[in-house]
Amino acid sequence: MIYGARTSGDLCFKGEFEEMSKCDDLSCHLTIDVEEEDWAHNVGFVPQMLLDLNPSPENTIVITCGPPIMIRFVLENLKKLGFADEQIYTTLENRMKCGIGKCGRCNAGGMYVCKDGPVFSYAVLKDIPEAFA
Ligand code: FES
Repeated sequence: MIYGARTSGDLCFKGEFEEMSKCDDLSCHLTIDVEEEDWAHNVGFVPQMLLDLNPSPENTIVITCGPPIMIRFVLENLKKLGFADEQIYTTLENRMKCGIGKCGRCNAGGMYVCKDGPVFSYAVLKDIPEAFA
């Protein structure tokens, strides 16, 4: 798991995740965007950390959520690492407004994110350019 935020203060459950990152049985990697004093983990963006960790696509699925710009670069890097479209899942809940299929705000590629998702495989989303706009 890669968990990133702009600052360490933006990390939810920071203490719990820091404990998880010390456990050899779990693969939990923390990163923040900018250097901070006393920060003992990675500094940098999630998409670059993904490339640096170089996870094998064998027997693996990826679930990614966060700001659309981050998701877009994570998707690019997952493709560079050899992940198939069907191994990648992401959420588009940021497109939702009413959440009950009434406002049309979440429409993407003829789907309503609130009714048809909000979690989709990249195999479904890759041909919908507005999905990550
Ligand atoms: S959020 Fe309003 S229709 Fe989906």
